[in-house]
Amino acid sequence: MKSFPLEPIEKASLDELRALQLKRLKATLQHAYRHSPVYKAKFDAAGVHPDDCRSLADLAKFPFTTKADLRDSYPFGMLAVPREQCVRIHASSGTTGKPTVVAYTQNDVDMWAACVARSIRAAGARPGDLVHISYGYGLFTGGLGAHYGAEKLGLTVVPFGGGQTERQVQLINDFKPDIIMVTPSYMLAIADEFEKQGLSAADSSLRTGIFGAEPWTNDMRHALENRMAIDAVDIYGLSEIIGPGVASECVETKDGPTIWEDHFYPEIIDPVTGELLPDGQMGELVFTSLSKEALPIIRYRTRDLTRLLPGTARTMRRMEKITGRSDDMMIVRGVNVFPTQIEELILKRAELAPHYQCVLTREGAMDCLSVVVETRPDLAPDSAAARAAAALLQQEIKAYIGTSVQVELRAEGGVERSLGKAKRVLDRRR
Ligand code: DLL
Repeated sequence: MKSFPLEPIEKASLDELRALQLKRLKATLQHAYRHSPVYKAKFDAAGVHPDDCRSLADLAKFPFTTKADLRDSYPFGMLAVPREQCVRIHASSGTTGKPTVVAYTQNDVDMWAACVARSIRAAGARPGDLVHISYGYGLFTGGLGAHYGAEKLGLTVVPFGGGQTERQVQLINDFKPDIIMVTPSYMLAIADEFEKQGLSAADSSLRTGIFGAEPWTNDMRHALENRMAIDAVDIYGLSEIIGPGVASECVETKDGPTIWEDHFYPEIIDPVTGELLPDGQMGELVFTSLSKEALPIIRYRTRDLTRLLPGTARTMRRMEKITGRSDDMMIVRGVNVFPTQIEELILKRAELAPHYQCVLTREGAMDCLSVVVETRPDLAPDSAAARAAAALLQQEIKAYIGTSVQVELRAEGGVERSLGKAKRVLDRRR
């Protein structure tokens, strides 16, 4: 495979990278303070001024930004440019209340596209490749974010979006894309549809899957790679920072997304105390934008749990593959449980399909967790083999995660398919 030259900053020394980050950080803090009344008020209340930032470590003096700050200033109150200078708005729906609104200047859209182009190239794509995009288009950043990046890299884009799974398969079969960009859970639904149509997913033209927007495990990576005969890489991002392309995996190492640190400065904090943690330690990921105009974002608390790792394929640091958000953490009789921990154990059982949901209920004062999971399409849920697999899964969850659960088996299609992000936790306690 012919490789394409990296951008100079991807190969820069750490000293060069840190110098660029500091220069951009100082400019971002000044821009936010001067042009966004919300940031001015937050910095003043914390008794800090952009001039107090003389080193990257000084960033820790500045206050955090949370989703609540964006909600409180709904829709455009945090903008640091007049709304008229924005060329695009996106929003994330959230589960309650008002959506979180983000906005982009032309320079922001260009920077975002450059980060996504870099991500797609890191996945092994080259100009001229055909990419099928199944991330949703619209207010969600997935579709348009992937789209602009792919075009910038010189790919031919099929802007399919989510849904119409039968047609997705038909067009993948007819157009013969090299790359697919989609959530890993919807990739599974597309793979199932291949088989329903009597086609082999492994024989498709696809060479690479660029999967993200939701947590997924390395076991899921191996399952998708084997089933589809592709390389599966992880792309990470969030709308508050930009959308997809904040960090992305390099295909040659597949060892966690490389953070495009020249644009997004990462920190890890203790989610309870807010204290800064050293690289290598698990905690909540926090990002500061280094080059955004419309919505500079200072120390945004992502709620995503991970740790920072040294660079491998690039000088820039990596983040460990995200296996949970603090919002997704279930506390079942005092034990912290993430859906991805259950996913890993489901994927070890050949009798089960990786379509699952965690359902929380309450019996009296006790929280109960049921894992609803499908059996392999050719295996009836009430067969002896399926029941034995369920019993083993239940034992393994108790042994490895430490909590008692019920396992409920369903036939193929018994767990609702997502067209985008999978809903892994169903809380029926209220
Ligand atoms: O999901 C942006 C995106 C689109 C990323 C397409 C990748 C691909 P939001 O809707 O704002 O933006 O959701 C952001 O999704 O804080 C994580 O909890 C989760 N997330 C995104 N990518 C990953 C990933 C988009 N690769 C939230 N692994 C983030 C795990 C992810 N979680």
